[in-house]
This record gives sequence, structure tokens and C-alpha cells, in this order.
Amino acid sequence: MTLQEHLAGELAAARARTLLLTDHDEPELLRQHTPLLSPLVWDLAHVGQQEDLWLLRGGNAACRGLLPPDVEALYDAFTHPRAQRARLPLLPPVEARAFCAEVRGRVLDRLERLGRDDDGDPFPFAMVVSHEQQHDETMLQALGVRTGPPLLGTGSPLPPGRPGVAGTAVAVAGGEFVLGADAADEPFSLDNERPAHRVHVPAYRLGRVPVTNAEYAAFVADGGYDQPRWWSPRGWAHRVEAGLERPQFWGTDGSRTRFGVVEELPPDEPVQHVTAFEAEAYAAWAGGTGAAPAGARLPTEAEWEKAAVWDPATGRRRRFPWGDSEPTPALANLGGAALRPAPVGAYPAGASPCGAEQLLGDVWEWTSSDLTPWPGFRPMLYADYSAPFFGGGYRVLRGGSWAVGPSILRPSFRNWDHPFRRQVFAGFRLAWSADEPGA
Ligand SMILES: [Fe+2]
Repeated sequence: MTLQEHLAGELAAARARTLLLTDHDEPELLRQHTPLLSPLVWDLAHVGQQEDLWLLRGGNAACRGLLPPDVEALYDAFTHPRAQRARLPLLPPVEARAFCAEVRGRVLDRLERLGRDDDGDPFPFAMVVSHEQQHDETMLQALGVRTGPPLLGTGSPLPPGRPGVAGTAVAVAGGEFVLGADAADEPFSLDNERPAHRVHVPAYRLGRVPVTNAEYAAFVADGGYDQPRWWSPRGWAHRVEAGLERPQFWGTDGSRTRFGVVEELPPDEPVQHVTAFEAEAYAAWAGGTGAAPAGARLPTEAEWEKAAVWDPATGRRRRFPWGDSEPTPALANLGGAALRPAPVGAYPAGASPCGAEQLLGDVWEWTSSDLTPWPGFRPMLYADYSAPFFGGGYRVLRGGSWAVGPSILRPSFRNWDHPFRRQVFAGFRLAWSADEPGA
């Protein structure tokens, strides 16, 4: 397969997913389910607008695109906050789809020419694929908070979990490893993943798998949401102000609502829809009550990445936790069709060199790290992708959820959000410094 064929396939896969997620009637697409997320019809035209900008105009916004300038301006994410987008005179769904299709036709012509042009750069095409797939996940977040009869069904089957893995940990030796990605090894890595650089990480232990619903339910049942001693001051203030009492979508009767379907809470599934503050409070409670070894905390993102890729036997990074082969449904739960995380222990073949499992897929994992640039950071073509968010109090999430498109995910991929958000498909795993007596 040529690079052009590969990129055309990736563009088509992202678009098929976008069209599936927006295959609803006009009133449904115009609904704003929460001020935190856009109406789906905004996302739909926005992915076309960004594709037009980056692939047909080389990122030059002064150059006129396929939409009239006043219409194109409606899809500028920095000008129009999500909470206001439903009130904008947006393109109706039929026109939004036609616009996206016209852009795509021209983009495929451009992609064909890339093969004949020695100076052509495939990176913007991969960047646009990543952008569309990320919006597909955002649309799933919106459909997750939507109320009303289910639109998406219950999701595709997943492998069963394994007993005995929840609550266990793996050891990672101290020492240097290579954090991040370089263009030479990962040509489609985004700016905030670069450059690769050596960092020293002291010895630690890491949860073999993410914390499960059953483990988290014990924290809720023990009154964890009523005891400020388990919470950071900021986390407690947020818990009180937002009235948090349990993860989002959990009922008081052992049920949960998932894309409109009410079902029994699956005990072995990684907990999701918690804030970073709740994750930290759980860690403090677990380490403080003996539910987990003392000193439990969230991992740093360097700890997370080292556990995911570093192979001490070879002294090099693996491309993926399990090796250098691309993700498959036997290795990780990705792509969005499942509509939920897999139970812990479902992917033994996806284990990393240190034995940690389910690092890619299932749930985004909160870390203790704020989003900062790696030393030597340089903005990419889409210069506002990362740089405006550095130093903004954003918390890094690693690993990728069940809703992430498999082709855009790498162990070096960095996601971020406010630590108080929980519409994200986010959970967490625990870590312990090796000098902790309980570790
Ligand atoms: Fe966007």
C-alpha cells in the first residue's frame, strides 16, 4: 500500500465514523446536550472547515475557502465557545454534509498529486485525520450526556475479563528512558509529543490495570464523598460546589446510564466519568484505609509512558505496549464501537514489558501532571493545537479511551482537560513510589 492509499483510507475511515455519528434528524443534530459540548451539527461542519483550511489552503486563513467568510467564521473554535454554538446561524445538516463532501473531493485530488510531488508533505493529511477522529470522540461525549431514548444501541461485544488482576500492581525499575516521539520514528506524532528526550524516572509501582467500578464503589460506600480528608483542598471545594456524590451517570441503586441505556453497573469494568479530583481522592482513601497499599497516588505522565513502552531488555521503546505491530481488536479496545471499556484483564496479549495491561484503549487515564511543553517544543503547522494550553492548569490524560480511533493513537499521545471535567471517557490507575513502605 502506498502512503497515499494509506492516508486516503484513514480519511475515509474517519469520515465514515463522523457520518455514522451524525446520521440523525435535524432537531437531534441541533440539540446542545450540555454547555460543555457543541451541537453535533457544529462538529460536522467544523471538521470540513478545518480540512479545507489545512489541506486546501495550507493553513492560510486569509485565503478564501469554500464557505463564505462570515459562515466559515462560525466554525472557529477559539472565537465561539462551545456553550454559545447552538445559538449561531449554523449550516443545516444537509448543507454541512454537502460542504464536507465537496472539501473531501478536492482533498483527494490534492492527495493524489502528493504522490507526484517530491516536496509534498503528508503530515497535514494525518493531522486532519487526527482532528476528525478527535471530534468523533467529542461527539460521543455529547451523545453520552444526551437525555432521551437510546440512539446508539448497547455497543459491540468485548472479550471477557480475567479474575485476579484488579488491584494488583507491577514494578518498574528506576532509571532513564526515552520520553516522547521524534518525527523520524513517528512521522505523524503531534507537536506536544516531540521531541523525544531522555528523562530519569525513580523506581515505582503501577496498577496492572485501571481501577474498577467495584473498587471505586467501595470508596463511595465508605462515605468517601463526605470526608474532606481524602480530598485536595481544591478537589473538595469542587466536590461541594458541583455537588458530586458518585461518578457521572451512576445511579444510587447500583445502576448506571450509558448512552440512554440503564443497566447494572459492571463491577470489573474500569471506572469512567470521574474528575481528576475524584481519582486523587480515591487514591488517598485507598492508600489510607488499606484498600490499596499505602502511598497510593496517580502516576506522572512520565511514569505512565515508561510503563507503556520501555523495554529494559533491549534498552529501547516499543512502538506500542505489546510490541511494534498496529493495534487489533485482540490487543486493545479502541474505535468506539463497543461504547464502553472492556473488563479488566480482557487483553493479556496487550501487556507492556513491565506487565501493565490496558494502557491503550478502554479509558483515558488521569495523571498527576499538568500540560507543559517538552524541552525543545516547536509548534506544528496548526500552531494553536497545543501552545495556547500550556500553563493553563490543564491536566494530562494518557492512554486513549475505547472511543479513540486506533490509527491516531500512540503511547506518546497526550490528551488534556481541566481536572474538574468528567464528560471525558476517563478513569485512572494507581501508582506508588518504590520507597513507600507499602509499595
Ligand atoms: Fe477542532
